[in-house]
Amino acid sequence: MNTPPVDASAIERAAEVLRRGGIVALPTETVYGLAADADNDDAVRTLFAAKGRPADHPVIVHVSNADAFDEWATDVPDVAQILARTFWPGPLTLVLKRSARARDVLTGGQNTVALRSPAHPWMRAVLHSFGGALAAPSANRFGRVSPTTAQHVLDDLGVKPRGKVDLILDGGACPVGIESTIVDVSGDAPTLLRPGAITRNQLQKATGRQVADAGAQSPRAAGRLEKHYAPHTPLTLVPVEELVVLLSKPGGARLAVLAPMSLLENCRAEVALAIAAAEHADDYARMLYSSLHRLDSSGADRLIVAAPPTGSQWEAIHDRLRRAQAGAANG
Ligand code: TXA
Ligand code: MG
Repeated sequence: MNTPPVDASAIERAAEVLRRGGIVALPTETVYGLAADADNDDAVRTLFAAKGRPADHPVIVHVSNADAFDEWATDVPDVAQILARTFWPGPLTLVLKRSARARDVLTGGQNTVALRSPAHPWMRAVLHSFGGALAAPSANRFGRVSPTTAQHVLDDLGVKPRGKVDLILDGGACPVGIESTIVDVSGDAPTLLRPGAITRNQLQKATGRQVADAGAQSPRAAGRLEKHYAPHTPLTLVPVEELVVLLSKPGGARLAVLAPMSLLENCRAEVALAIAAAEHADDYARMLYSSLHRLDSSGADRLIVAAPPTGSQWEAIHDRLRRAQAGAANG
């Protein structure tokens, strides 16, 4: 996966749009983000409107480094410093007690703020040139599959005057492919709000602490709603044994399938599109959303995904597939 060299004039244009209170779609290592000046309430409201996102859903504030703890958070525990030292810049978001600078428009009125220092060179160049912090949710309409290419953003949100965003920066396909891991370190025990590229095992190893799942009382996170990451076409996760049977029957509904190559080879069912699933979790994550986008636009009646392997490495992938299944039109 090659990231093109940073285009300095495009970065400058993006920083200029952000200074004016505009919104810019841009690549991060996880997914494309839709960025606005985190200190400009009107710009953040425009951002929410573009996504169709309810105002009470908090957004991640993207910062250059952990110096931002002092500006955006209070009572920062050691565990947050350790996690930032180990995984920043990178695909990890930390939820901390907020400072006064983290206003309600960013936090959805909660007393915490989510901070992330992204690693993608284009995003870092924009942060540097802009000079402030950037509020940035994933650059998709609320509830839909996250974008991992500039084309996905163009298809979903589009550019003004006919579309929703002021500028899209094309920095290639996102190297990680799924959203950041979110860890809440605002309470006594670190809790995992959203599994992501940094695995629970990695978090536990770095901190020497158990990282439990969030209980029902934890702050709401959009990524924790069951109906999320949804394609338009009904999607079913199928255990490999059942898929062998399903694909051996000719005719029936037109399927679009994401499954291991070995299963696709003897397929006799009517298939609009078949995509070979990657064997390693990192590769699978990188291709997951682009595969879902492709399957969804193949004209199939049903999307079929072979249940991937289990284990810590696959936790985030299972999470996203389960939500895609719950959120698609099959209810
Ligand atoms: O990888 C990512 O995290 C991408 C890129 C663009 O950085 N961003 C992303 O943003 O996935 P978004 O808005 O699509 O998801 C952010 C999640 C939401 O589920 C939101 O509810 C949660 O972070 N969140 C934000 N602030 C929070 C807070 N104070 N407490 C708990 N959850 C929070
Ligand atoms: Mg999102």
